Amino acid sequence: MFTSVILAAGMGTRMKSDMPKVLHSVCGKPLCGWVIDASLKAGADEVVCVVGHKADMVKEKLAGKAEFVLQAEQKGTGHAVMQAKNAIENTAGAVVVLNGDTPLITADMIKSAVCTHEKSGASATVITAELDDATGYGRIVRGTDGSVLKIVEQKDASEEERNIHEVNSGMYVFSSKDLLYALDKITPNNAQGEYYLTDTLEILRNAGKKVGAYVIDDADEIRGINDRVQLSEAQKLMQIRINEAHMRNGVTMLSPETTCIEDDVQIGGDTIIGANVIIGAGSKIGSNVSVGANSQIMNSVVHDGADILCSVMFDAEIGKDTHVGPFAYLRPNSVVGKNVKVGDFVEIKNSNIGDGTKISHLTYIGDSDVGENVNFGCGTVTVNYDGKSKYRTKIGNNAFIGCNTNLVAPVTVADGAYTAAGSTITDAVPEDSLAIARARQVNKTDWNDKRSK
Ligand code: UD1
Ligand code: MG
Repeated sequence: MFTSVILAAGMGTRMKSDMPKVLHSVCGKPLCGWVIDASLKAGADEVVCVVGHKADMVKEKLAGKAEFVLQAEQKGTGHAVMQAKNAIENTAGAVVVLNGDTPLITADMIKSAVCTHEKSGASATVITAELDDATGYGRIVRGTDGSVLKIVEQKDASEEERNIHEVNSGMYVFSSKDLLYALDKITPNNAQGEYYLTDTLEILRNAGKKVGAYVIDDADEIRGINDRVQLSEAQKLMQIRINEAHMRNGVTMLSPETTCIEDDVQIGGDTIIGANVIIGAGSKIGSNVSVGANSQIMNSVVHDGADILCSVMFDAEIGKDTHVGPFAYLRPNSVVGKNVKVGDFVEIKNSNIGDGTKISHLTYIGDSDVGENVNFGCGTVTVNYDGKSKYRTKIGNNAFIGCNTNLVAPVTVADGAYTAAGSTITDAVPEDSLAIARARQVNKTDWNDKRSK
């Protein structure tokens, strides 16, 4: 049981972005979203984000996941934590302070840090790591007995202190009462004129309290993102984590280094994913599915045994053993049934397609309800828009739509009906009948001779 306070008020100048740094995403989730989720997964019963720069935008994007307090002016990390005073006062357990720009943090690490803190009975436990290059970080100054004396910021450090390789991650576990006590006593007497949260450690130690450190092995977990290069490095590391988890779950990836799977994607066993595939957050892919190279599946559901070749899906669903592609485009609200064939250069939008239907080539189906075992000839178009409004096309079971048919909506083709190739259908076609809606062929004999005279 603990409360997380996540510092996310900074500008993130080096991102050179109109968007606040903590909203930039790694594998489909904002930087700060990763930190919030890790906190919740570790067992936080309250998560408070300290927001400042473009606070409304941050709040809107992360709404529902955390509570927010405003730090109107950024006067330092200590000042930021002070803004969460109410939440800290009301918490019975520990307070974990984290940064909003460290997406690679894990729930396990937070849990272990809290556990270490509680077992040791310390007032504060700082999470640290040994780095070959400690430039820019606060250094952990330890006494001869190995205990933590204080943290010195790079800008305030002596030559000797700068040679220390153990750095402050900027993450801590505090006992709530001791944190409040120490926050009250920090002052901005330092090189940056800021209220440093790091000063709380020395304050607590001088008050006779115990201050500890939790040293982590994997320094990636504390990587803060400051610019787009670091953002891409984090993306790479996170992608490896996500892809490896799927592979360990029984998913084959032919080219994991080019496969981008966002957070919150489910994939069943024995599914095979080709090169350059993107699968967006919220997607659910069944088992024994084949997702061919260069496909993009965004917020979509793909049932068992389906086969997708080089196609794009947004907010769509395809049924069991259905084949899609190559080069098909399934747009929002397309629900395709079982054993359907959606072939090359087929676009489907806001439509329901019944089981066993075949839409093999060069066809647009928009705003339509199509029955089972319907056959679409090549080049069928549902004419769903008259320039003002959209209308639906309804096609019954076992209908046969001839090649190059235009179905001018609103229109209905009943069960078992046929349309002749090249027809422009504007009126309802009754059950089991054939509609022909095109001019009869006229042959002008000897035309070539007459033409050249
Ligand atoms: C801080 C630590 C340093 C540590 C490093 C780890 C202090 C004084 N120093 O330094 O010891 O090694 O993090 O990355 O704490 N923020 C606010 N409001 C503010 C200031 C900062 O919300 O007024 C947020 C920032 O958006 C950021 C986090 O706090 O997410 C850390 O602030 P930053 O300015 O990056 O601190 P560092 O100088 O990196
Ligand atoms: Mg920083």
